[in-house]
Amino acid sequence: MKKISNGKSNEFCPQTLFLYGTYKEDKTPNFGLFCWFSYTWHAELGVMACIGGDKLTKDLIRKNKVFSANLVNKPLLKLADYYGNKNGYDTDKMNLVPDYTNGDTLNVPIIKNSPVNIELEVIQEVHLDGSDVFICKIHNTMVDENLMDETLNIEDKIQLLQPVFTTCQTYFTQECTNSGHWGEPMKEITDEKI
Ligand SMILES: Cc1cc2nc3c(=O)[nH]c(=O)nc-3n(C[C@H](O)[C@H](O)[C@H](O)COP(=O)(O)O)c2cc1C
Repeated sequence: MKKISNGKSNEFCPQTLFLYGTYKEDKTPNFGLFCWFSYTWHAELGVMACIGGDKLTKDLIRKNKVFSANLVNKPLLKLADYYGNKNGYDTDKMNLVPDYTNGDTLNVPIIKNSPVNIELEVIQEVHLDGSDVFICKIHNTMVDENLMDETLNIEDKIQLLQPVFTTCQTYFTQECTNSGHWGEPMKEITDEKI
């Protein structure tokens, strides 16, 4: 593989998308779209979420100390794109409200049509130059019951999930075919150059 230097970039490194849900002071929900999201381990599985600049979502996460992360799948993409391009400080942003309910363990809005909702509590905030990273405890996840159906295999479930990925400022859906359980692909390694 011949390489070309591409600077300080995360292009061609697809990321999963989440809608972060928070409650405003008047108890109505706000949603924003985020992809700088990953996991941590501190005695148990946790989450880290990086939020740049000033945003309503950040203000509300700081104030409430809790929020939801709702996985974006193909049917949710139109709404997710809107929540990612419409500023929460614009008072008309939430004229478009998804069907939501309250989290099972935390007071956070969760989107009913998102197949995975993660209920998060902030336990630490790290200030960086231009952004802030919220280290969070996972209190609970709510998942589509079909994803727990033991008669379906993992490939069927991921195809049901229809996750959307993003890179290069573009959204992608994938075919989601099963390329092996962890530890299986390595069994195919042979002595030949790979
Ligand atoms: C595809 C996509 C991914 C985004 N990911 C992030 C992110 O990870 N961190 C961030 O600070 N902003 C991210 N944004 C920008 C926020 O979604 C945007 O600022 C939005 O207005 C936030 O909602 P709010 O203004 O209601 O807080 C992303 C936008 C898009 C379109």
